[in-house]
Amino acid sequence: MKKFGVLGFPVKHSLSPLMHNAAMKEVGFDGSYEHIEVAPDDLNCFMKRVKTGEFSGLSVTVPYKEAVIEYCDKLSDEAKLIGAVNTLYFDGTDLVGTNTDWYGFIKALEEVEPGFAEKRILVVGAGGAARACLYALNKFGVEPYLTNRSMEKLDEMVNDFDFISVESDLLEDLDFDIVVNATSVGLKEDDPMVVSESLVDMVETVFDLIYLDTKLVVYAREKGKKLASAKRMLLLQGGKQFEYFTGVNPPLEVMWKSIN
Ligand code: ATR
Repeated sequence: MKKFGVLGFPVKHSLSPLMHNAAMKEVGFDGSYEHIEVAPDDLNCFMKRVKTGEFSGLSVTVPYKEAVIEYCDKLSDEAKLIGAVNTLYFDGTDLVGTNTDWYGFIKALEEVEPGFAEKRILVVGAGGAARACLYALNKFGVEPYLTNRSMEKLDEMVNDFDFISVESDLLEDLDFDIVVNATSVGLKEDDPMVVSESLVDMVETVFDLIYLDTKLVVYAREKGKKLASAKRMLLLQGGKQFEYFTGVNPPLEVMWKSIN
């Protein structure tokens, strides 16, 4: 039986084992998938075990998406550009790092906004999550607007992605159709909305990558905005991972049921 898992710290809350175990069962793949909680001090030791082939593949989540890069023998172009790995698998004896977050993001966006390529899109954030959004949008020919608390971080991204920087105090002078929260604002219960109410009033669709009822999501729902779903993103990035892990098309409906 092949072993897989999701590496993170903490990771007990992750829905990935439900999703992947259901999918393996559905397609008759002989594998198991577990939560793998590794403290930062133990990461090096754990990754050495991974390199011996103890696991056939891993999903990687917070806080290790950047830290695992140094252990990879090969990195996909998307992982290089995004600068984060959420999927590890083997190509022969080579440990390969890739990224499927960008795919989950764009597919989940497309489900509510099939015409997203013609829309004015504002992405908020400048970390790994924002870089995955930028990669996906650029790949589909979209040059989004980008803002962040620290504007200097955007300067570091100009060589990697196409985007238009906007200072936060100028946001309301512009007109957007879609706003994406790619920051960590909203993870804590007492976090404020990451953008103003009047900005949300202006758009037709909100995509909060945090899959909780954040203040942004609650407000957007109250105002009758279309909501792209972070849970669909989780499913769709997981489906793509499943392909890397097993070589089999993901049974998305079964995977979706398993996390609902
Ligand atoms: P991830 O890899 O999940 O994107 P990250 O790299 O830590 O996480 O990035 C976190 C993002 O959330 C950054 O854009 C950060 O803004 P800064 O670059 O200015 O730090 C943003 N963020 C975190 N806390 C914030 C807050 N209180 N207000 C506004 N933005 C915040």
